[in-house]
Amino acid sequence: MQADIIDGRALARQVLAEVAEGAKMLDRPPGLAVIIAGDDPASHVYVRTKVKRAEELGFLTEKIQLPADCGEARVLEEVAKLNARDEIDGILVQLPLPADINTLRVMAAVDPAKDVDGLHALNAGRLTQGSGGLIPCTPLGCMKIIKSVIPDLTGSHAVVIGSSNIVGKPMAALLLEEHATVTQCHIHTRDTKFVCRGADIIVSAVGKPGLVNADWIKPRAVVIDVGTTRVPKADGSGYTLKGDVDFDEAVKVAGAITPVPGGVGPMTIACLMENTLTAAKMRKEAKENEWPVLS
Ligand code: GUN
Repeated sequence: MQADIIDGRALARQVLAEVAEGAKMLDRPPGLAVIIAGDDPASHVYVRTKVKRAEELGFLTEKIQLPADCGEARVLEEVAKLNARDEIDGILVQLPLPADINTLRVMAAVDPAKDVDGLHALNAGRLTQGSGGLIPCTPLGCMKIIKSVIPDLTGSHAVVIGSSNIVGKPMAALLLEEHATVTQCHIHTRDTKFVCRGADIIVSAVGKPGLVNADWIKPRAVVIDVGTTRVPKADGSGYTLKGDVDFDEAVKVAGAITPVPGGVGPMTIACLMENTLTAAKMRKEAKENEWPVLS
């Protein structure tokens, strides 16, 4: 029996509709600022989509474009300016940054209350403690997708392939919070296929097209493909996006599976909008009650 193909675009529309409703409760539109340094074409495409989605929701949006050789001090200066502006609720620094810039130092400079990427150590720490805070958008989107097909994850075996700060680690923490038994595989794992074959849920976030094939998948397992590798088209007319999963074969074995494109990608962007609204609401509440935001 063929797997259910999860429609990430439809789920994203639901999230965006909820965000639009939630934003009506505020006395001003949420504000999202995106910093992009350099001219990586894929990053520019992502940023354009993020800004467009925010504009469609009526958010205040701002894009700060810096040259590839701007240096770390300049990025930190822009972050500091955005931290100080009351009408900006969310700050996203598009990754990857140019190689001479220390990503963790930049993440640490973002006000944790405006950290809509959930990458500041305070938000990452809160996630591992299950104590609130802003959650990275891709894992948050994956979790909404997983819960749309398995509402209760208690006791299920989830395997996360990849251990990045932006997807793999927060994904594992979220699954653990939902009482799944979590195995994290990474570049040094000896037999990822063996581990995956016992999984009820596989989340792959590696960036290696075709890594996960049908014989890695337990029949009826839920397969979430976070991979988005740009592969040149055979006729030279641009690129196609390829996931980590061999979709055409995996779809014959899995119970539910996300396609690429049209799976996790739209949910990541919808969750960025949700995080921006969450940050705006948290900041408003803190201001009204004169309590600190996320400290
Ligand atoms: N580059 C690729 N994905 C992301 C993301 O989720 N956030 C940021 N800031 N950069 C990215």
